[in-house]
Amino acid sequence: MKISVVGTGYVGLVSGTCFAETGAEVCCIDIDEVKVNNLKKGEIPIYEPGLESILTRNTEKERLLFSTSIKDGIQDSEVVFIAVGTPPDEDGSADLKHVLKVASDIGKHINDYMLIATKSTVPVGTAEKVKSAIQEEIDKRGLEIDFDVASNPEFLKEGDAIKDFLHPERIIIGVESERAEKTMKKLYKPFLLNNHPILFMDIRSAEMTKYVANAMLATKISFINEVANLCEIMNVNVNMVRRGIGSDSRIGNKFIYPGAGYGGSCFPKDVKALIKSAGDNNFSMEVLKAVEDVNNRQKSILFDKLYKYYQGDLKDKTIAIWGLSFKPRTDDMREAPAVVIIEKLLNHGAKVKAYDPVAVDEAKKQLGDSIEYAPDQYEALIEADALILVTEWSEFRLPNFKVIKKLLKKPLILDGRNIYDSEELLEKGFDYIAIGSEHIQA
Ligand SMILES: NC(=O)c1ccc[n+]([C@@H]2O[C@H](COP(=O)([O-])OP(=O)(O)OC[C@H]3O[C@@H](n4cnc5c(N)ncnc54)[C@H](O)[C@@H]3O)[C@@H](O)[C@H]2O)c1
Repeated sequence: MKISVVGTGYVGLVSGTCFAETGAEVCCIDIDEVKVNNLKKGEIPIYEPGLESILTRNTEKERLLFSTSIKDGIQDSEVVFIAVGTPPDEDGSADLKHVLKVASDIGKHINDYMLIATKSTVPVGTAEKVKSAIQEEIDKRGLEIDFDVASNPEFLKEGDAIKDFLHPERIIIGVESERAEKTMKKLYKPFLLNNHPILFMDIRSAEMTKYVANAMLATKISFINEVANLCEIMNVNVNMVRRGIGSDSRIGNKFIYPGAGYGGSCFPKDVKALIKSAGDNNFSMEVLKAVEDVNNRQKSILFDKLYKYYQGDLKDKTIAIWGLSFKPRTDDMREAPAVVIIEKLLNHGAKVKAYDPVAVDEAKKQLGDSIEYAPDQYEALIEADALILVTEWSEFRLPNFKVIKKLLKKPLILDGRNIYDSEELLEKGFDYIAIGSEHIQA
C-alpha cells in the first residue's frame, strides 16, 4: 500500500515512519527544504525517543522517502494525510491556511482516486473546505476525478509518540463513504492487533472529538492547579488531596498533578480555537474560558512566589532554571511555561542560567542569548540565588542535594512539579517552595 503524508513535523514524521514500519510505502512531504534534505541524510529535526532507529530502519529499506514535491510525492498514493500545522490565528481560531494550501496543491496534481485524510487538528467543518479546495482545482483542470475526504485526528503525545502511534488506545476516523472506511480499516489494521477500538463516525464528530479531548485534559490541569492554590491558602496538602481523589476510578490519577501550567503546541491553541468556534456559533464556553485564565495565571506562579520570597527585589539575582521544554522527553518549546517565567525574571533585572537535556537549541530560537545555557544541571547552579525546577525531566528527580546546596549561593528551591520531599529538603537546610504550599523555611 502506498501512502503519503504532507507536513513532516512531530505528527507527520512520526505517523509516516510508523506507517512505514507496517510495510507500507510512505512518502513524507514538506515545504521546508532544509528539513527534507536533512531527513534524506538521516538527520531528524525533532527530539522524540525511539524515532531515530525506526526511521533509519525504514529509510534503509526504502519504504520511507522524503520529498518537497506534492506533485511527485502523492502519485499512486491510496491515502494522502494532511499533517501540517494549524497555529492560532490572531483571533484564536485555528489558522487553516496551510491545510487549505495543501488541499489546493493536491487538487492540482491528483490523477486518480485517493482518500485525503486530515490528521491536523482542525475545527468542525474543515473537511468540507478541504473537499471544496480540491474540487475547485480539479474543475479548473477540466477533469473528473473521484476522491474522498476523511478526518483522522491524531492523539499521540510528544515524548511517547512512537508508542502511542504503534499502540493507540483508540483510533478516531470520520468518513462519509464505505470505500473510505474500508481503506482506513486496512491501513490501521496492523496497529489494532491488541483489540483497541477503531471508531468510525461522521466527519464533523471526528473533528470535534479531538478538540474536546484536549479541552478535557486542559480542564483537569487547570482544575487541579486552582485547587492547589486554594490548598495553599487553607494550609492543606494538595499532594495528599491529589492522591485521595485520583484513586477514585471515576476521576483517575492522570492529568491531576499541580504544576506550572500547561503549554505545548496543542492544549493552548486547541482550547483557544474551541472557545472561538463556540463564539462563532453564538455560544460561550464558560468553563473553557476559566481554564485558559487559570492557566495563564499559573504560568507565572513560580515567578510570583520567588518575587514574594525576595520581597520584589530580583535585580542582579541569578536564578537557575532546570527544564525548558513544555514537558519532559521533548524539545518542543511552544507555549512553554519556562519562557513566561524567564521573561518575567529578565524584566525584573534577574540573570538566568538554564539547563535542559535536549531543548536548548529550540529555546535559543525564542530566548536567544538573553540567558546563559549551562552544559550540565549542576553548572546552572553556581552562585545562583535560587533553583526553579520547571520541567520534571527524570534526571532531576533524585539529584545530589549536597552538591546543590554547596553550589547555590542561597539554598532555595522552587519546585514547579512537586517532585521533592519537603521534609527532606527542610532537614537538609533548604528553603523549599512548591505548588500549592507556602514557602517552608529551613
Ligand atoms: N505535536 C503534537 O503533539 C500533536 C499531537 C496531535 C495533533 N497535533 C496536530 O497536528 C498538526 C501538526 O502538528 P505538528 O506539531 O506536527 O506541527 P509542526 O509545526 O511540527 O509541523 C508542521 C509541518 O508542516 C510543514 N508544512 C507547512 N505548510 C506546508 C505545506 N504547504 N506543504 C507541506 N508541508 C507544509 C511545516 O514545514 C512543518 O514541517 C497540528 O494541527 C497539531 O495541532 C499535534
